[in-house]
Amino acid sequence: MTNGMIGTAALGEGGPEVGVQGLGCMGMSFAYGPTDANASRATLERALELGVTLYDTADAYGAGENERFLAPFFKAHRDEVVVATKFALSIPPEDPTRRVIRNDAPYIREAVEASLKRLDVDVIDLYYMHRRDVNVPIEETVGTMAELVREGKVKQLGLSEVTAGELRAAHGVHPIAAVQSEWSLFSRDIEAKVVPAARELGVTLVPYSPLGRGFLTGSFADADQDLTADDFRRQMPRFTGANATANAALLDPIRTVAEAHDATPGQIALAWVHQQAELHNLPVIPIPGTRKPTRVEENTAATHITLTQEELALLEPIAKKVAGTRYKDMAFTSAGRE
Ligand SMILES: NC(=O)c1ccc[n+]([C@@H]2O[C@H](COP(=O)([O-])OP(=O)(O)OC[C@H]3O[C@@H](n4cnc5c(N)ncnc54)[C@H](OP(=O)(O)O)[C@@H]3O)[C@@H](O)[C@H]2O)c1
Repeated sequence: MTNGMIGTAALGEGGPEVGVQGLGCMGMSFAYGPTDANASRATLERALELGVTLYDTADAYGAGENERFLAPFFKAHRDEVVVATKFALSIPPEDPTRRVIRNDAPYIREAVEASLKRLDVDVIDLYYMHRRDVNVPIEETVGTMAELVREGKVKQLGLSEVTAGELRAAHGVHPIAAVQSEWSLFSRDIEAKVVPAARELGVTLVPYSPLGRGFLTGSFADADQDLTADDFRRQMPRFTGANATANAALLDPIRTVAEAHDATPGQIALAWVHQQAELHNLPVIPIPGTRKPTRVEENTAATHITLTQEELALLEPIAKKVAGTRYKDMAFTSAGRE
């Protein structure tokens, strides 16, 4: 490809072809420090020009703010974009700072209506269960989600941070198009069970935080010192103190490979995730998050990098050496239940 455009991949068996790299929009409203609305808007437009069509948000990102922010962009390009959003992290009215995981039918019905309204769309292209509420059988949750498909409110279904068993049970109720889970050079737990199950069932993998929340780019070394006080990464075990120091040293082989390709460490981290599609024989559509047009150019260019067997071998030991878990409470992830 010579025009800078990215390739495509299928979103679920028989699903639409979308750009092989999506865009994570969370940081445009939430989690990663100060935002610039104009730069974010320019990033969305530049991504589309480069062939990015899958745009990822959630009702929880900024308590609805991220969906509202994206609505004008989606309206301007409705036929060109695939809108993905999520439900499950409810805000209890008595304490808006807390999040309670809910997968029950009344909650899902309320959530989908609210997302449709904020996004200002007639239908959500891909609707994910963001987190699993273990008090509700997954069959029941997906049963409700399937009703939304039949009612024309949602086109395809996705699940985030589910175990292989949960994915199989869900898929038995209604085809699941995509599983969204953390997958990067630093976070590889899903390779043991979730990835093989997805391959077997024809489910597309959508890796989130493929840049290790930015750490793999080398743009910050210790969240406490380098990031603003409201940055969510300061609460994550890997990015502060002795863990951050130890983990920063793990970037050396990534830098070595980057030099050989005249690329950045972030591009190598993304190229590695893209290459998992071939290595595991399933569609993989990572959704790196950025709020800067030049970075979306850099990130999409990584789809054209192919790592050699020797380079893959050099990068292979990194994940096992990472200090600190990916969340404070691993019950928040599939690995915590697998
Ligand atoms: N399902 C879930 O539970 C879940 C959890 C987390 C995230 N997500 C989704 O996944 C998306 C991506 O994950 P993420 O944002 O957590 O992590 P990520 O994509 O691994 O990293 C994003 C961070 O990297 C920085 N960055 C991006 N490109 C860069 C580049 N070329 N050079 C230097 N820095 C760069 C971004 O800063 P700038 O924005 O300033 O460029 C941002 O701070 C999110 O937007 C969200 O949609 C889902």
